[in-house]
Formats: sequence, structure tokens, C-alpha cells
Amino acid sequence: MCGIVGYIGHRNVVDILVKGLQSLEYRGYDSAGIAVVDYPEDKNSIKAPAVHIVKGVGKVADLKSMLDSSPVSGRQGIGHTRWATHGGVTEVNAHPHSDLSSKLVLVHNGIVENYRELRAELAAPAESYKSETDTEVIAQLLSTLYTKYGGEERPAMIEALVALHKRLRGSFALVIMAKDIPGKIYCLRKGSPLVVGFSGEGEALCASDVPAILPYTQDVVYLDDGDIAELSAEGMRFWNASGEEFEKNHVHIDWDVSMVDKGGYPHFMLKEINEQGAVLRSSMAKRLAEEGTVDLSAELPWTKEEACAWKRIHIVACGTSYYASLVAERFLETITDLDIRVDVASEYRYRNFPVGPDTLAVFVSQSGETADTLAAERLAKARGARCLAVTNVIGSTLAREVDDILQLKAGPEIGVAATKTFMGQMAVLYLLSLYIAKLRETLTGDYERTIGREMLALPYKVESILQQQEKIQKLAVLHSEARDFLFLGRGNSFPVALEGALKLKEISYIHAEAYAAGEMKHGPIALLDPRVPVVVVSPKDDLHEKTFSNILEAKARKAPVIAIASEGDASLDSTADNIFHVPVTLPLLSPFLTVTPLQLFAYYVAKILGCDIDQPRNLAKSVTVE
Ligand code: F6R
Repeated sequence: MCGIVGYIGHRNVVDILVKGLQSLEYRGYDSAGIAVVDYPEDKNSIKAPAVHIVKGVGKVADLKSMLDSSPVSGRQGIGHTRWATHGGVTEVNAHPHSDLSSKLVLVHNGIVENYRELRAELAAPAESYKSETDTEVIAQLLSTLYTKYGGEERPAMIEALVALHKRLRGSFALVIMAKDIPGKIYCLRKGSPLVVGFSGEGEALCASDVPAILPYTQDVVYLDDGDIAELSAEGMRFWNASGEEFEKNHVHIDWDVSMVDKGGYPHFMLKEINEQGAVLRSSMAKRLAEEGTVDLSAELPWTKEEACAWKRIHIVACGTSYYASLVAERFLETITDLDIRVDVASEYRYRNFPVGPDTLAVFVSQSGETADTLAAERLAKARGARCLAVTNVIGSTLAREVDDILQLKAGPEIGVAATKTFMGQMAVLYLLSLYIAKLRETLTGDYERTIGREMLALPYKVESILQQQEKIQKLAVLHSEARDFLFLGRGNSFPVALEGALKLKEISYIHAEAYAAGEMKHGPIALLDPRVPVVVVSPKDDLHEKTFSNILEAKARKAPVIAIASEGDASLDSTADNIFHVPVTLPLLSPFLTVTPLQLFAYYVAKILGCDIDQPRNLAKSVTVE
């Protein structure tokens, strides 16, 4: 939530900030702004530096238009794209914010919980604040602290930031420029992500996420909680929360710039749906051999003894990542003997499950920054569980806190609605399940190879679905006027129905509910009439006949039925109104194929309705607050 970016170097900063903000716009898009400092070339000049702040309500494109009509320039600046928390979506609440005497300017991602207390404590009268934000209070507090410190031991700004870190409660990533410290940008992080990089050509950058930095360098440093960074054209320096200077390790990011553009597609979401065959290949590469055997020992240093000592597996996630976990739950319970519990992180963190050294706790998060998932992980870790992250972002907070990591290798996902990472999560969780079953010897070699080989065929099957997008487009035209949808599925098709409904509501704002098909008659059937289409995920599996009965029940109420069925299955032909066929696979693997038409359906409905597909209203891709 909220994207921040900073640059210092030899180029005009405005373009760099705008491009950086555009690549972070998935994090927030209700208002945007930049601050650019224009220092006199001559270091001895007594002319005061000019700080230009340009900000407003709307998207980064609106900010760009403002900058085109009233250009500013400078070689150092910070920018922000906002997802409002404190205070409405207004120009004054948009970042950057200054302290009351305009000594410094800063941008902030996160929430400072004790800002009211701090505001009361600061001498300034309440009416002197321009905005309703917690950020303006931070600027004022930092300015007060900065004035207080002399900087004998350390630069005064570092002293002030160490003190600021102690005073703020909550989560924050801050990027700061002070008028009287030309050529330097300061960063402070607690809870909200911040990554910094140095291009080697005298350019230093910071951002909430790597896409903003990638055009300049692939070697980055992730700040940890309490870290302070000083960026200048000479390089980067780091101090910890106690104010001791230290070195930090660089991480090489194997994503390239082409991965963060639309590549000719009208939307990132469509590009990312179309990448799913490739995502499956890369998430299985070096993990699943040609003959179908799985080996994760290069990434998971677990012994047989350790794996056999686990009594339970907890899988914890939010949103789409939770639905991928529900799919995996059904697979795990088929091939292992473990007690499995899957929960949403916002519930898990406040419940009282038995969790301890006999628990493998798996945290599934595309971003690795989701606040609830992180809190759940900290709780499980504190109780002694072995913690594993399944994430797309190798330098994320989650990845850095856990014992073990399995990376999705899906490449950056920019569309706010998760699609290709759902596919990657299912693939990685299936490989994990197979590996655990293998270590615990609950799976025969033959069965492992049968599943493994069929998994290797999935990318081709997904691609054959992607070649039939026109059929889905036609279905979307037929049903785009409906205001309510019901999605149904049984067994592992139930989480697919949940994911299909989530995609539709997120990007088209159409009300869509998903139910386990057998639950329909316990309530939701009351909703059915000819205006409520029912999407039934019904591949050929052991539960197919039971789902067929639910289709008949829906038809008896004259609801239009759209079925996702297996190729060669003619049993629904005379009952469902529309049928989309997916290739045949093992029933255990059907979610990999049945979800793709639902993603495309949501996409095309939203397109027909003219919705903002990549940046749906009220949503942000990375939910870093509770
Ligand atoms: C839905 C979506 C969200 C995320 C959820 C968890 O399209 O993107 O529901 O899945 O916010 O995010 P991560 O996986 O980053 O923890």
C-alpha cells in the first residue's frame, strides 16, 4: 500500500520518479506526488535550494500531465503513489509532506499508530498542520529531533532518525530530503518494505519494490527493520537502529526490465494470464525431473527424520494465496498422513491452535509483505514451528524471516489481481506436498512419477486453453449484464470456484459468491433466478455426478449455467447453457486447468464493462497494514 521512490544522480529526476511511480502504481493509485530539490551547481553558492512539490489526486498519469504543463527539474527527488489510510483522497493529504518550517520533505508508506499522541506532544498548534495524515506529524517530529542533535558522533540526521525510530509505533518506510543537506537522501524502515540500489554510474535509488529500480541496477539491498540508509551520488551507507554504521549484503535480482512492461498486451493482467504456461515451466524447473520425480533438497535442507517428526502442517495465507493453499490442502491430505490446517492469516494470528516444534508452518504470499501473513509467521516461529515461505519475492520480509524458502519464479506480477502467481503457488505447493510425502514415505515411487509426469504436461494444456480465448470472450459478452453470479465446485474445484468469484468481483465489481456445490441448497439457492448465472467448475472426477445434480437444481430455478468441463465429457451438453472444455488431466491436477478460463472470463467481463483492470478501485497489491 503506497509506493515510494527516490533518486539521486546526474539525470533530471522527474522522468525517473514518474517512471518509478508508474511501475509501483499497483501499490496505490488514488493520488501521487513528487518533491524535487534543485540545488545550485556551485557548492559555495549562498542561494537557498529550491524544493518543488507537485502533487494531486488521481493516478501517476495525472501527475505527469501536471508536470508536463508546469515542469520542474533537479537531480535529486522523492515520489509517492498513495493508497489512502489517514485522511481522505485530497491534494493536501497526498505526499510528499513537509515539516511546518519546510526544512525537510518526506514520503511515507505504512501507518504510524501513535501519531495523535505525538502531535499533541509537539509544540505546534493543531491548526498549523495542513493535512489529516500521520505523515505530516512524522515530518514535524523528525524536524524537531534534527534541530536538537548536534551530530558530534554521527551526522545529525542519523541521530535524528535513530531517535525517530524509537518514537514511532506502527509500520513505516520513510524517504527524506533535508534542505540543508544537499546531495543526500535518507531512508528509514520498520515494517514496510524498502529496497535501495546504486547503479555504479553515480546514481542511487530507493523504492518500495524492485520494479522501480530494475532499469538502473539488478543489485539491490533490502533494508531490515530499524535500518537507516544514506544515498548519494558517491554510494550508499547504512546504520542500524542503535546508530552503528555497518555493511549490508547486496542481492542480485534475476528479473529484467522487459518483465515489467506490458509486452504489447493491453493490460498486465492479460499478459500475466498468458504467461502461465511459462510460469509452470519455470516453477517446476530443476525441481521436477523428466521422469516425474521431485527433488527439493537443494532448497529445503530437511532430513527424513525431521520430516517424519512433524505431526501437522499449517498453511497460512490471504486472498488468492489462501485459495491456492486450499487447493494444496486437498492434495496433501490425499498423499500424506499429516494433520493439515489451512487458514487465512488474519484469523490464524488470533486463534489458539496447537503449534510447536512438531509443526511445519507454510506461509504463502506472492509479495512476501502481507502484514497479516507476516504476523502469523512471527507467531508460529515464536512457538517453535519450522517456518517455510512460498513467495515470489526472494528479498521480501517474509522470505528473510523464515527458516526455508521456495520461490515461485513467476517473474514480477504487476496486475493487482493475482493470476500467474496463483498458478505458480499451486505448482510449488504440489511439489512441496510430493516432497514431504516422499520424505515420510507415504507415497509410492510409481504414484510420484505418474503425478510428476502429468504435471510436466500441464504447461502445454494451459497453453491450449489460452489459444481459445475467443470462446471465453463470447461467454463474457453473453453474461456481462448480470449483476450477481454464483460459482460452485466440489473437492478441489471448490477453491477454484472461490478464486473465479474473487477475480470477477475484484476487477468487474460484479457481486460474485462461491460455494461448495453441496452447500447451495443450504441457502444460496434462494438467490437463483434467470438473472443469476451459475458458473460450475465440473471437471471429470469422482464428484462429477454429485455436481451434476447441483447443475440440475440450478436449471430447475431457470438460472443460466456456465460449466467448466473436461474435454470429451458430453454429459452436461443438454443441461448447461454454455460449456467450456479444458484438456483432460488427473483429477488431482484439474485446478491448474479449470482456473484459467475463469481468470479470462473475469478479464473479458471487466473489459466489456470498461473497468480499470490492472488497478481496480479500492485495492492495492501489497497489503502491508492489518
Ligand atoms: C487477489 C489478490 C489478493 C492477494 C492477497 C495476498 O487477486 O491479489 O487477494 O492474493 O492480498 O497477497 P500476497 O499473496 O502478496 O500475500
